[in-house]
Amino acid sequence: MKRYEKFADEIAELIRTGVLGPGEKVPSVRHASRTYGVSPSTVFQAYYLLEDRGLIQARARSGYFVREHAKRPLHEPELTSHAAHTTDVDVSELVFSVLASLKDPHTVPFGSAFPSPDLFPLPRLAKSMAHALRMLSPHEIIADMTAGNADLRRQIALRYMVSGVMLPMEELVIGNGAMEALNLCLQCVTQPGDLVAIESPTFYACLQVLERLQLKAVEIPVHPREGIDLSALEQSLEQLPIKACWFMSSLQNPLGASMSEAKKQALYELLVKHQVPLIEDDVYAELYFGSHPPKPVKSFDREGLVMHCSSFSKSLAPGYRIGWVAGGRYAEQIARLKLMTTISPSVPAQAALADYLQHGGYDRHLRKLRHALEMQQSAMLASAARHFPASTRVTRPAGGYFLWFEFPERLDSLQLLRLALAQGISLAPGPIFSASQGFRHCARLNYGHAWNARSEQAMEVLGRLVAGLL
Ligand SMILES: Cc1ncc(COP(=O)(O)O)c(C=O)c1O
Repeated sequence: MKRYEKFADEIAELIRTGVLGPGEKVPSVRHASRTYGVSPSTVFQAYYLLEDRGLIQARARSGYFVREHAKRPLHEPELTSHAAHTTDVDVSELVFSVLASLKDPHTVPFGSAFPSPDLFPLPRLAKSMAHALRMLSPHEIIADMTAGNADLRRQIALRYMVSGVMLPMEELVIGNGAMEALNLCLQCVTQPGDLVAIESPTFYACLQVLERLQLKAVEIPVHPREGIDLSALEQSLEQLPIKACWFMSSLQNPLGASMSEAKKQALYELLVKHQVPLIEDDVYAELYFGSHPPKPVKSFDREGLVMHCSSFSKSLAPGYRIGWVAGGRYAEQIARLKLMTTISPSVPAQAALADYLQHGGYDRHLRKLRHALEMQQSAMLASAARHFPASTRVTRPAGGYFLWFEFPERLDSLQLLRLALAQGISLAPGPIFSASQGFRHCARLNYGHAWNARSEQAMEVLGRLVAGLL
C-alpha cells in the first residue's frame, strides 16, 4: 500500500469513528505534513482520495472539511452482555417466514441480502461464459469435477497471494457458493450434538446449518466495530467442549464489524491453544472501503487449523453459485465430502469465472463497486440521521452493504417489519440473526441499491413507523 493510501485510511477511520465529526475541518496540509511526518504532496494525494470517496470536501480558501452528511450523526451500538451457555437452534420457521415476506420485487429492498444486480458486470461475464464454453475440452469437463477448475483455483490462489496469504492450490476446494463450503467444513469437524461457537448476532443461514446438523450454538457477542469478544470466547473455550468456531473476522454480517490484525492473530493463538478449528466466513472480503484488503485470520495459520470460505456471490456473480474453501489440514476430507454430496459446481460457470478473472478487469470492477457502496452507505447514514429518532443507534462499517440499527428496547422489529411491508418497504428484523431470537429491537438495512428519492422517502416512512412504536 502506498503511503498516501495509508494516511487516507487513517483519516477515514477518524471520520468513521466520529473523532472527526461532520463539518469539522481536517488538519491543514502543512499541519498534517508536520504532525504525521509525511510530505505535503502525500497529504494532498490522500485528501484527493478522500474527496473522491465522498468523505471530505474542499471549501474555497478554507481547506478541507468532513462532509456534512449528517448534522446530527446517530450513535453507534455497544457490545451486548454475555453468559457462556449453549442453545438448541430452532429458527428456521421464523427465518423462512421472514424471507418469504421479503420476496416482493416491488418493495424497497432494505431487507435484501444482495446488492443491486446493476452493480455487477453481467454482460462482460456473459462474454467470458461464451468464450470459456468454446474453449472447454471434453477432458477438462470431467477432470474439473473433483477439486474444481484448475485455472479458477490458480486465479483464486493468486488473489490470496496478493493479499499476503501464500496458499498451495491443493488446499482450495471449489463449491456451490460459500454456503456449500461452510456446510462441508462444519460437517467435517463435528458430530450431531456437538457445540459450535458462533457470533451473536450472526448470519441466519449459519443458524440454519447448525439446526440441520443438530449442533448446539454457543453464542459469542460481537462488538459492532471491533468484532468478536475475545474474553467471552476464551471463557467459553475453557468451560465448554467446543468443537469448532464459525466466525467472520472482516465485515461481519449483520454488524459489519472488522477485527484488527492484532485481534485476528490473538484469536488464532487462542484457537491453537485449545486446538479448535476455525471456519472463517469471508464472503464480504472484497467489499472493503479502505485502500487495502483486510487480512483474514487464515493469514496467520501455521497449523492448517483455519478453513477459509469465500465466494463470488457478493462481489461479482451472484447467480453463478461459485465459492470455495481454503481448507488447511481438512482440505482432502472436505473434497471427499463434496464428492459424496453434490460432486461439483457447474463446470461452465467455473470456467467462465476463470476467464473473467484473467481477462475481464475484476479489480477495476471492484474499485467501482466499492466506491458505489461507500457513497450509498453515506447516503443511508445521512438519511437515518434526518428521519430516525435520536435514540436510534447505527453501525458505520468500513465496507459491505449493511447497516445495523439498534432502537430502544421497547421497539419490536417483527412488528416494525409488518408495518413496513404494508408500506412497501422491507427490512431484516433482529431475531432472525440469533439462536436465542434476541435483538428484537434491532434491524439490518441494506444500502446496496442506488440511492434515490424512493429510498429517501422509504427512510422517512420507516422513521415515522419507528417513532410510532416507541
Ligand atoms: C455471511 C454470509 N456467508 C455466506 C453467505 C453465502 O454465500 P454464497 O451465496 O456464496 O453461498 C452469505 C450470503 O448471504 C452471507 O451473508
